[in-house]
Amino acid sequence: MVKDRMKFIRLDSNENPCGCSPLAKKAVIEYMEDDKLSKSQYPDEYTMFLRSAISEKYGVDRDEVFCGNGADEIIYLLGNTFINPGDEVILPEISFASYASSASFRKGKIVCAPLKDDFGIDLDAVLKAITENTKYIVLVNPNNPTGTMFCEEEQYEFLKKVPEDILVIIDEAYAEFYMGANFPNTCSMLRDFDNLIILKTFSKIYGLASFRIGFIMANKKIISSLLSEDYRAESIQRFNVTTLAMIAAQAALKDDVFLENTKTANDRCLKNLCKHLDNMGYSYVPSHANFLLINIRRDCTPVVESLEKKGYLVRPGTVLNADRLSEYIRVSIGTNEQMEGFIHAFKDCLKL
Ligand SMILES: Cc1ncc(COP(=O)(O)O)c(C=O)c1O
Repeated sequence: MVKDRMKFIRLDSNENPCGCSPLAKKAVIEYMEDDKLSKSQYPDEYTMFLRSAISEKYGVDRDEVFCGNGADEIIYLLGNTFINPGDEVILPEISFASYASSASFRKGKIVCAPLKDDFGIDLDAVLKAITENTKYIVLVNPNNPTGTMFCEEEQYEFLKKVPEDILVIIDEAYAEFYMGANFPNTCSMLRDFDNLIILKTFSKIYGLASFRIGFIMANKKIISSLLSEDYRAESIQRFNVTTLAMIAAQAALKDDVFLENTKTANDRCLKNLCKHLDNMGYSYVPSHANFLLINIRRDCTPVVESLEKKGYLVRPGTVLNADRLSEYIRVSIGTNEQMEGFIHAFKDCLKL
C-alpha cells in the first residue's frame, strides 16, 4: 500500500530541513502579485534567464547550460540521448540509482566498479572497467548514499586518463555541503575536457525540491544537441520547466547567506549524530553531504519498519545496494529537533 509520506518526518530523501531560500520565496511572491507579469503564458522553453543566471554564478557560457524538470529528468534524457542497446555505462558499485535505471531502460549494460574498503570511489577501478563499448562513466561527488568524496587532483588526473570519446558525468548534487577546501573546481575543468558533463540540482542545499529544477553544464556541442528543435520534439515534454521554478531558482542562486546557514546547520547536526553513534558503539561512513550511512549490524528491514511506526522515514540499505548494504540505513540530516527525536526513536528501535 502506498503510504502518505507527508505525515512522517522524512529523513529519507536528503531534502533541506531549513526550507527554501527567503530570497526565492520573496521572488515567487512578487511574481504572483505583479499583475504586469502574465501567469497565463507558457514558460520560456529554452529557460534563457535562468541559464544566464547559472552561467554567471558558475563562470560558464549560457550555451554551456541546460535546465530540466529536476536533475532526474536530465539523467533520463542523457540515457535516452547517448545509450543504445549494448552500450556500457560504468558506475561505482554503490551510486545514485537513477543512472542505472535510465541506462537499463535503453538496454544499456551497467558495469559496476568496486569501491575501496572504506566505501570511497576507487577511480583506478573505474578506469580499469573501461572497454571499447563504454559510452559514459558516472561519478557522484560527494557520493550518494555513502557521502564520500574525491578531491580536485584525483578528479583531474582521472579525467586525463579517460579516452575523449567517453563521456564523464560528474554529479555534484551535494557539492555545496562540503566543508573542506579541496573540492574539485569542476566548472574550470570544462575548458580542458570536452567529454565532461557536470550535473547539479536545486533540490538539495537550495531547498527547492518541490519546484523540480536541475541543470547540467557541458560543452556547447552537447548542450546544443539537447536544445535543438528536432531533439526536443522527440524527447522532451514541452515547457518542462515552469516559470515559477525558474524564478525561485534564479533568486536562490543569489542567496549565499541561506546556503551558508544551511551548510553550518547541517554540519552541526551531522557531527552531533556521529557523536551519538560513537557513544552507542555504531559505525558509519564519514559523510561530506547531508546524510549518513549507518551500519546497524543487523537486517535493516525491521529497524526501518519500527522507525516508521514511530513517525520517521529513513532509507533502508536493501534498496540502495542489496548485496553490501542490507545492514545499513541512510539517514538524511534534519533539524536539531528532528535529529534529537530520531536519535531517541533509533535507540528505542535498537533496544539500547
Ligand atoms: C546524486 C543525486 N543526483 C541527482 C538527484 C536528482 O535530483 P532532482 O531532485 O533535481 O531530480 C538526486 C536526488 O536525490 C541525487 O541524490
